[in-house]
Amino acid sequence: MSNIVIIGTQWGDEGKGKIVDMLAPGVDAVVRFQGGHNAGHTVTVGGKSYKLKLIPSGILHKGKLCLVGNGVVLDPVEFCAEADALRSEGLDLGPERLKISRKCHLLLSYHKVLDQAREAWKGDDKIGTTGRGIGPCYEDKAGRAGIRACDLEDFDLLSRKVKMVLAEKNALLTGLYGKKAVDPEETVRELKPLAVRLLPHLADVSEELSRVEAAGGSIMFEGAQGVHLDIDHGTYPFVTSSNTVAGNAAAGGGIAPSRLHRVIGIAKAYTTRVGAGAFPTELTDEVGEYIQEKGAEFGTVTGRRRRCGRLDAVILRESVRLCGVNDFVLTKLDVLSGLPEVEICTAYEYRGRRIQYPPQAEGGLGEARPVYERLPGWREDLSGVRTFSDLPGAARNYIRRLEELTGVPVSMVSVGASREQTLVR
Ligand code: IMP
Repeated sequence: MSNIVIIGTQWGDEGKGKIVDMLAPGVDAVVRFQGGHNAGHTVTVGGKSYKLKLIPSGILHKGKLCLVGNGVVLDPVEFCAEADALRSEGLDLGPERLKISRKCHLLLSYHKVLDQAREAWKGDDKIGTTGRGIGPCYEDKAGRAGIRACDLEDFDLLSRKVKMVLAEKNALLTGLYGKKAVDPEETVRELKPLAVRLLPHLADVSEELSRVEAAGGSIMFEGAQGVHLDIDHGTYPFVTSSNTVAGNAAAGGGIAPSRLHRVIGIAKAYTTRVGAGAFPTELTDEVGEYIQEKGAEFGTVTGRRRRCGRLDAVILRESVRLCGVNDFVLTKLDVLSGLPEVEICTAYEYRGRRIQYPPQAEGGLGEARPVYERLPGWREDLSGVRTFSDLPGAARNYIRRLEELTGVPVSMVSVGASREQTLVR
């Protein structure tokens, strides 16, 4: 019995969904512990692609218990739409296998309105959020003004809370952002039919986890976004509003930290980022375009073009330090085929010094200049390779160098979207 945490070690979009899906058969429960429907996990099974945002990827595996932990912000409209889409594919989403923590904060329409209004108001200084209301919902949670899933069990309380919170929000919306006020009564009315659907799924997720463990079962914690979008440790303020580091699997899932046994870090063979913020190894030349096109680097949620760049061992080293990554899964290695050279950023030049970890000052990463090591590239198409030893020597060398630079072994390599295109060492 061993519990695993899966996290993205860059700026999200590392291909976590596929790996969670692959490892799901070996566990009894899959838990989401942070983020909301800003996450987009694409999983391809039998040539069919599923897009998951809020529902744990384990749902694609018959009988797995899927839990939405207290650290998630849950949009009831999105949750129901996603559940309907999956159900229409014949998947079982019954309340006995898909459970939501009563402590989850609900992401409501006004959070979305505020997120978008604020981004528009900020103009060039905007964060480039997904516009899904994630930040405003976590703000309410921290400000003790949040509406929780358990409030759906008491509509009198919920109505009072919505009324109070909207008095403040509407002052901001109409006064500063020049938008229309949101009607509290309508907000509550919209929630009623959704509550009927959500109520059967509400559970004490922490208790569910103890039950799985008591029966000798194992649990997988499915991270969303990536370490460098973490609210504390990421490139603040260009970050998401939750803790994406592995430690939050405990707080956001409702389990003791000592029950987390293995941390698997997912890293793409290059780096991508969506939205604004520093990105030292970003490529704005034809190599960046080659990677963007070949890797089909478009955001799952917003469809935005992802910025692409070289592999950055500095940010991966930081992820190892923050999360205690036991092993890496390197994804999309096939995308790099055809490049004459592959470069890895090994350190930064920052204010006249060479540094091994990202600087902490706001905007500091924007001043960091990457120090590159050049390695020979490879021409071969990797999509049909199934064993590590069948990889071209230059690709194996690239992986070995990454292991040396981070001190962490690469246990799996992904060379395509399907489950079979995964090399397990
Ligand atoms: P928010 O999470 O919508 O507030 O967006 C904050 C930042 O995180 C923006 O730069 C987004 O592009 C980024 N972001 C949020 N979710 C994801 C994700 O799942 N993948 C990649 N970037 C994300």
